Amino acid sequence: MAGRRPRRSSAWFGRGGKMGFIYRSWVKNRGVPHDQFDGRPVIGICNTYSELTPCNSHFRTLAEHVKAGVWEAGGFPLEFPVMSLGETLLRPTAMLYRNLASMDVEESIRGNPIDGVVLLMGCDKTTPALLMGAASVDLPTIGVSGGPMLSGWYKGERIGSGTHVWSLSEDLRAGRISEAEFHEAESCMHRSHGHCMTMGTASTMASMVEALGIGLPGNAAYPAVDARRNLLARAAGRRIVELVREGTTMSRILTREAFENAIRTCAAIGGSTNAVIHLIAIARRVGVALSLEDWDRLGRGVHTLVNLMPSGRYLMEDFCYAGGLPAVLRELGEAGKLHRDALTVNGRTIWENVKDAPCWNRDVIHPWAKPFKKNAGIAVLRGNLCPRGAIIKPSAASPQLMKHRGRAVVFENIEDLHRRIDDPRLAVDERSVMVLKNCGPKGYPGMAEVGNMPLPRKLLKKGVTDMVRISDARMSGTAYGTVVLHVAPEAAAGGPLALVRDGDPIELDVEARRLELLVPAEELERRRKAWQPPAPPLERGYWKLYYDHVLQADEGADLDFLVGKSGAFVPRDNH
Ligand code: FES
Repeated sequence: MAGRRPRRSSAWFGRGGKMGFIYRSWVKNRGVPHDQFDGRPVIGICNTYSELTPCNSHFRTLAEHVKAGVWEAGGFPLEFPVMSLGETLLRPTAMLYRNLASMDVEESIRGNPIDGVVLLMGCDKTTPALLMGAASVDLPTIGVSGGPMLSGWYKGERIGSGTHVWSLSEDLRAGRISEAEFHEAESCMHRSHGHCMTMGTASTMASMVEALGIGLPGNAAYPAVDARRNLLARAAGRRIVELVREGTTMSRILTREAFENAIRTCAAIGGSTNAVIHLIAIARRVGVALSLEDWDRLGRGVHTLVNLMPSGRYLMEDFCYAGGLPAVLRELGEAGKLHRDALTVNGRTIWENVKDAPCWNRDVIHPWAKPFKKNAGIAVLRGNLCPRGAIIKPSAASPQLMKHRGRAVVFENIEDLHRRIDDPRLAVDERSVMVLKNCGPKGYPGMAEVGNMPLPRKLLKKGVTDMVRISDARMSGTAYGTVVLHVAPEAAAGGPLALVRDGDPIELDVEARRLELLVPAEELERRRKAWQPPAPPLERGYWKLYYDHVLQADEGADLDFLVGKSGAFVPRDNH
């Protein structure tokens, strides 16, 4: 029986002799009594607190609430830090370090006397990094998200993280607002603890945690400063102790059905395109072969129900008051779009958790029968420009551009884009297709969120608000536009994107899932022979490890040697 298995931590704290002394004595140095080593579940609290990650800056408090729950349930909590990834400050992009942080998490859990883990995560990359690392160890695990910030308000209107940064900076560039107004908006946008409060990547991933069943109901939407966020952390602390006693490991929760629920949920919330890469990477850690095709197949026919920025007008605080993710999951379940029997960490199925969930505001969470946007799953494109796929988020795109043919305006890299985008001599009009190369996993490196290229100033001044943009980059979950992302293989790996030249005709047809470079094959072959790969950005340290081993976007951009899991067993003792 799972409950009778000796605790993993007893291999440390239950030992006699010299090693038992060493394992216990140093922990006692802060006043831990001897009876804490009596075989009770030892719970690791994996904390991404950092002042360099503003979205997670309240995690010391959150950890204390988890600890209270662990004590109450008869466990022994031990908090530990791992590498934190602050989306706004970390250069060149936090995504470069997602896999490094996941290695930190994996080895910190496996190497220590831990029976179960609570993962504290919030800012974009902290969630996938922690889930990936923990999945490769596969102990009983609960995810606790830090919660979104309160809504931003400026001049009487909601302003959303990221989403309004793009529009405010375009207003500034076009001369519609002053520098002073721009700076005032900075203070009005982010006014409490928490992560971005649009349905950007952080909110999407917090929703994925709940939809996967690896977090408790309510995980996605309680604001960071809402007392219920602390209650949720405390409940997670209590529950993880039971999970250890039951022997319910992470892979019991993260099944194919759980991932399919998460993919459909992502469509229903109008979630970030970054979830595609992260969920594929997490799934591959637990041995679930999730593919781009799964995203296209499962997302088809799923409507967006949630009216949140960047696709809609409300923010996460409104989402919480309207009923939060349980209300969305109930709609999906009633529409036959949920694997109802998927187990969640509270010991109940996902359907048991949400079947009576109320909705208090139908303008924020629409019913399935009257969706906010129809058929809004992420579309996976194929064609000679993206043989291993590319994605587009139709709910953030302009309907009139979903089928479009235009001539390429090519930027060789991000510096080239910044240098020429506002040049009045740039040969571009609203029908052009903007192409950005060398911003993929290897090319940037780290696959930065630059796919939603700024529009040329001269077109902005004409009132143009959207254009077809194609790149091997990612896009911030808070951004919008007719933006084709994650082109694979990327330009720096020799993908066809590397061969596009100014003036080439490109055809996008989202309905037919096609993206074609309309250049004869012989000409492309000629260009391929002349193509030279760019030099690696750095020849030492983690950057080199990353560059040599990173997989393409369609495989989750994990490092090739991290795919899969090694379990919790440590082959060598430390004596
Ligand atoms: Fe941290 Fe957006 S910057 S979640």
